[in-house]
Amino acid sequence: MRDFEARRMKLAGGSPTVALNARGIRMKEEGIDVLSFAAGEPDFDTPEAVKDAAIEAIRRNDTHYTSAAGTMALRRRIVQKLREENGIEASEDGILVTPGAKLALYAAMTCFLQEGDACMVLTPAYPSYRSGILMAGADYVPVPLSFDNGFVVTREMLEAKVTKHAKMLIVCNPCNPTGHVLTEQELRDIADFVLAHDLLLIADEIYEKLIYDGRKHLSLGAIPEIRDRVITLNGLSKSAAMTGWRIGYSAASPELTKVMLKLQQNTVNCTASFTQTASIAALDCAADAERMRLSYLERRNLICDGLNAIPCIECPRAEGAFYAFFRIDCRGMSSEQLADYILEKAGILVVPGTAFGEGGEKCIRLSFAASRESLQEAVKRLTALFSE
Ligand SMILES: Cc1ncc(COP(=O)(O)O)c(C=O)c1O
Repeated sequence: MRDFEARRMKLAGGSPTVALNARGIRMKEEGIDVLSFAAGEPDFDTPEAVKDAAIEAIRRNDTHYTSAAGTMALRRRIVQKLREENGIEASEDGILVTPGAKLALYAAMTCFLQEGDACMVLTPAYPSYRSGILMAGADYVPVPLSFDNGFVVTREMLEAKVTKHAKMLIVCNPCNPTGHVLTEQELRDIADFVLAHDLLLIADEIYEKLIYDGRKHLSLGAIPEIRDRVITLNGLSKSAAMTGWRIGYSAASPELTKVMLKLQQNTVNCTASFTQTASIAALDCAADAERMRLSYLERRNLICDGLNAIPCIECPRAEGAFYAFFRIDCRGMSSEQLADYILEKAGILVVPGTAFGEGGEKCIRLSFAASRESLQEAVKRLTALFSE
């Protein structure tokens, strides 16, 4: 038989974090004592009010196709949220409700990138950025940031990587995996850069509610000079513990949204109807989001304090999101070797930093959206392992 796989799929590969998570599940099923911190998944239940809204919607027979862009009621609520919380001026026809932010991301890349285009990504970055760019047939151009300066981006770093083929820049704020939250200066530099090179900007804000130590989340889409060229991505997976509901959205100009709508019309058609109805309730659950944030903050401190007490580990306090992204200096081991060593010797599943691209060397990502007991046990095992 011929090899049927398209070249771009070969290039894209699968998601390393999803694969690692599956490995953890398999090991547990086989009865192996493994602590898994690989998934980017809240360990909270979805708020009761959201579940009730979905059940009521199903009972009301709210179970049919909706408009492809999403129900007007939900898009209206998202417009209000963006105005009040993010300073983003969107209109209902600039909102696309998708089955997960991942699909909005895929739509943005598929609809605006093609062969010959280059897409720049601040790395370490969420692995689906690279895969999506390659699936769209475009070139992936990493802009590696450095652990030693807190993964800060400057205009010079961006200018050093730009070519005449550049069409898009992807920015994740707060960042998965580094936890970095962009400052006003970084936002300004990014905005000036995309304007100077006439680029589209994808602003992935899925972790916006998870910010610590009094920092403030600032949206790139709120900057007036670039608002027409920003596609803001968000969703309820992280802020409302709704990963399995598959609900995300993009906010952009109506012109850009119209293009992305074509992809939705021709693929999934629309996001599940009752999920959309429940999402209106989820957007009203500010108290639940805050309760979860405070709990993540406490667990961030627990893991960072524990890991920083190990001499060969440097674990900066994540400014946002729910990942510890730490560096281990041990016998010159690479991040892959470290992750394998940690799994084999300590029964702890973590993600090697290089799974997130350039800049992740010698680093490990550990999700602290896990129970306090498991985090304490992880610190105990890692202390024993690296104190040898
Ligand atoms: C940075 C980032 N963007 C987007 C997503 C996709 O989220 P979802 O498709 O669950 O809305 C994730 C999930 O892990 C993520 O970490």
